[in-house]
Amino acid sequence: QDLTFMAGQVGKDGYRHYMEKELHEHPVAIGQTLKRITDPASKRIALPEMPFDPAQVPRITITACGSAYYAGMVGRYWLESLARIPVEIDVASEMRYREPPQPDKGVALLISQSGETADTLGVLRSLKKAGQSIVSVLNVEHSTMGRESDLVLGMDAGPEISVASTKAFTAQLSVLAALAIDFARARGTMDQAREERLTASLLDLPSRAAEVFTRTKDIQAMAAVVAQARDVLYLGRGICTPIAFEGALKLKEISYIHAEAYAAGELKHGPISLIDQTVPVVAIAPSTILFDKTLSNLQEAKARGGRILAFTDAEGAKRLEGVAEQVVIMPDVEAFVAPILYAIPVQMLAYEVALLKGTDVDQPRNLAKSVTVE
Ligand code: G6P
Repeated sequence: QDLTFMAGQVGKDGYRHYMEKELHEHPVAIGQTLKRITDPASKRIALPEMPFDPAQVPRITITACGSAYYAGMVGRYWLESLARIPVEIDVASEMRYREPPQPDKGVALLISQSGETADTLGVLRSLKKAGQSIVSVLNVEHSTMGRESDLVLGMDAGPEISVASTKAFTAQLSVLAALAIDFARARGTMDQAREERLTASLLDLPSRAAEVFTRTKDIQAMAAVVAQARDVLYLGRGICTPIAFEGALKLKEISYIHAEAYAAGELKHGPISLIDQTVPVVAIAPSTILFDKTLSNLQEAKARGGRILAFTDAEGAKRLEGVAEQVVIMPDVEAFVAPILYAIPVQMLAYEVALLKGTDVDQPRNLAKSVTVE
């Protein structure tokens, strides 16, 4: 992917950075991606035909790098819980050398914005040799991974110029959510009423995503706290844990502030010793997903002097009164789609912090858009 060329073709449309523009393209990226894989008449998910029978797949092996890996982590929750399919997942640089045994009729699922990441491509090739069907979720479909896959699930996010991935991430998640629904239907693990409810929540996402931008001021207020910190802790639970990882990665990438993410339940097994007034805790906490448990983790952090900043919904905000110093109140959505929606303000927070820090948002030091070396 020649970014210089693409950057020349794709303007910033009045935004200060490509990243800002691409953040604003989340609703469109999700909408376009879903449009392509939804039957307009029945409003049901309609993925291209698989080169295997989804009902017979014994295991899916998900592999990716960076943000795409975190999308894969969310995908694992969906595929396991909705389609009842065992999922193995690892970052490509590890998967490549682990030599895990591969089941007969297994499926390898590669996720990549560029379709060129060297380690992910290496895994694609070795799992192909190991007899796995190769399915890849790609933004750049005319890429090396695209050519070498048995099936490409495209994502229609449009060109992503900023080095840190934004809209490709929510588009990846949209495809994975649709894949879980498709597999669940084929495997008979979801009744039609549930399928309709979950599909409707997905199709409603572009509108909910557009609403997130009305929260920019609250996100900026949160950024003012984060920008003062040297270390930041991100916490999530269940399906939102990978979004905590995405938030920490994005903050590190573009603001150079050290951030770590944990499953909230792990707080007491180590990271709680870091907490004091100088280490803000950013919680990804929709009231739908294990909220009470997250709340008690946040109370523990607060009791140790931690400053709690939370992404939650109206119900969660009520329950976080007296615990969270700042909240960003998100639109109410089904738990199923919460990771897609909450990824947006989490990335926006990193962007706002980077602006305060004055870093080179689109071209952060030492990073490349597409890592084609091992
Ligand atoms: C680089 C980018 C990340 C991206 C990762 C994987 O590190 O900076 O934003 O998530 O590569 O790239 P891919 O193209 O395979 O999704």
